[in-house]
Amino acid sequence: MRKKIVAGNWKMNNDLDETELFLAELKKQVFPEKVVIMIAPPFTSLNHAFKSLRDHNVELAAQNMHQNNEGAFTGEISAKMLKSVGAKTVILGHSERRALFNEDSPILAAKVNTALENEMTVIFCIGEELEDRKKGSHFDLIKKQLSEGLFHVSDGAWENIIIAYEPVWAIGTGETASPEQAQEMHKFIRKIIAENYSKAIADNVSILYGGSVKPDNAAEIFGQNDVDGGLIGGASLKVDSFMKIVNSF
Ligand code: PGA
Repeated sequence: MRKKIVAGNWKMNNDLDETELFLAELKKQVFPEKVVIMIAPPFTSLNHAFKSLRDHNVELAAQNMHQNNEGAFTGEISAKMLKSVGAKTVILGHSERRALFNEDSPILAAKVNTALENEMTVIFCIGEELEDRKKGSHFDLIKKQLSEGLFHVSDGAWENIIIAYEPVWAIGTGETASPEQAQEMHKFIRKIIAENYSKAIADNVSILYGGSVKPDNAAEIFGQNDVDGGLIGGASLKVDSFMKIVNSF
């Protein structure tokens, strides 16, 4: 079911004390009913956040997970571990994971499968580099990322998939895609989902925009027909700016 979603991706920010301060402030807020609010703290804060938010309408997401269910993978975290600490959703394929940790499409496809097998929801991130956009190959690139990483899943799996379109050149740079650029790409993404699956599936999937979303540009971006919300990095680290974005629909 297509939903309005604002998800905060904290990346490698906020230790346990800082998480506690954030949560104490967050819990004082009034949440709009029509918006699904998610936060993705680091692994070390997930369980604390889960317990703290138990009676509040905020969902928890993890920022990554390993594709294997268990085994000799020093330093890694499995889907089962994430679920056991309260995270039902996982962000996969973030451009930082792709670029800095060599996560390619086969790895991401395996992670998607493992997450779905463990009945988790996946926020699958895709996005082109500035070079792709300059060359005019951004649509092809997005199609390739979706085809290789996601389009092997069954029709039924789409109930548990959220897409996040995050142009790499807009992440953490202060440079946002224009609302028109975001809408154009989101519409394209919905079109290729319809071509590969069905119009019903394409109409039902939530597609988030990410990349320098701030309180002063969120309303215009979220106002686009095919934009269902945002994956927010920097501006999700303070309750004030995060809530302004949550209230931008
Ligand atoms: P940003 O990050 O909002 O700081 O640009 C978005 C993201 O990387 O998810």
